[in-house]
Amino acid sequence: MGWEFNIGARLHRRLLDQELNVKASRKYEPDELIASHKLLKRLLDTPDAFLTHLRQMAGELILSFTYGIDVLPSDDPYITLAEEALHTLVSAAIPGKYLVDTFPILKHIPIWFPGAGFKRQAREWRKLARSMLELPFLETKRQMESGIARSSFTADRLNGLKDTNSAYQEDHIKSTAATMYLGGADTTVSTLGTFILAMLANPEAQKKAQAEIDGVTAGETLPTFADRDSLPYVSAIVKEVLRWKNVTPFGAPRLLTVEDEYRGYRLPARSLIIGSTWSILHDPIIYPDPHTFKPERFLLNGKLNPAIRDPEAAFGFGRRKCPGRHMATSSTWITIASVLATFDINKAVDADTGRVIEPTYAYFQGVVNMPLPFKCSIKPRSTQAVTLVKGAAASSQ
Ligand code: HEM
Repeated sequence: MGWEFNIGARLHRRLLDQELNVKASRKYEPDELIASHKLLKRLLDTPDAFLTHLRQMAGELILSFTYGIDVLPSDDPYITLAEEALHTLVSAAIPGKYLVDTFPILKHIPIWFPGAGFKRQAREWRKLARSMLELPFLETKRQMESGIARSSFTADRLNGLKDTNSAYQEDHIKSTAATMYLGGADTTVSTLGTFILAMLANPEAQKKAQAEIDGVTAGETLPTFADRDSLPYVSAIVKEVLRWKNVTPFGAPRLLTVEDEYRGYRLPARSLIIGSTWSILHDPIIYPDPHTFKPERFLLNGKLNPAIRDPEAAFGFGRRKCPGRHMATSSTWITIASVLATFDINKAVDADTGRVIEPTYAYFQGVVNMPLPFKCSIKPRSTQAVTLVKGAAASSQ
């Protein structure tokens, strides 16, 4: 399908870890704050399009720090391309969905052969994957040549290249950048979509978080990263969002290099092992009443309780776990804190019948689970909140 660039070579992984480790990720906080303020303004202007706004925000952030590309305010071609390309991947990469994954020999059947539809489809999808790899990278290079490129993962790494072997290294930078673009966009949208659903499922949690935020800002300012330690309930919401409807239901498959044993089961060498992230995060012993959205489970005496297992499995396991997890957690945190500070999220009411519209909480289930479109009401909490949102949006222009 053309996703070979996403094979997770060690060199890519080193580049990713250098760029996105705990310390390095902090440099993105100002961008994350601005992105959340832009989101607030869009929610104020057109609240019903909230899912589009979440998508715009996630795409904007990732394209900005990966490539230094400023996206269009709507219908941006790079965001659309990523969405289309990703859709093919999240639908096709479900283990067992295609027979060819189980019987790789099938990949050698000719394209005209009956039943070879998967090959024709893969050829189409390949074009999208290649465009996603090449187009934003070419744009950064074009900007560098014109002397207008700003600092970004791609521009900084290309600038830092020694002359020797640069085509090879350039290729690694290109692949790593595309992996970031791929790994960061949809996952963030899914997480924030789940947050909105969670507020509909548990209105009390929303009220508690708002009271906590008001206690810190008195409704006179918007939250900042400096407030993080004073807002444990908001942090507990972020953890519970990641746990409740975890973005990736199962981990990326791993290949056993040597025979192993687990609780009496023999696992032969070369077995494919797929971790069940969903089960880990819905284990009733660790997380009682696991299907209920309950941020309190992470708290003790008003503080985060270190004894409760962090839902870090949401980001995968071992050496290949998500390198973007620090950045993802902080951008999710500031977005959730900013939205709760300024808006009330409630179930929508049918204009004709006056009845409350119950969300179905249904997801598109793929490698990345994504809330299916749903309705809700997002209204500013006060006139002061409106003033804050407009002020922040004006200064983030
Ligand atoms: C809430 C948001 C996110 C979630 C839930 C998430 C989750 C995951 C998971 C489950 C994996 C597979 C890990 C494994 O195989 O064990 C992964 C891989 C990855 N993620 Fe994330 N991710 C998120 C955000 C991001 C962001 C913002 C970025 C980029 C800045 C990113 C970049 C990547 C990359 C590059 C990989 C592949 C790593 C490799 O192959 O070694 N992710 N992510």
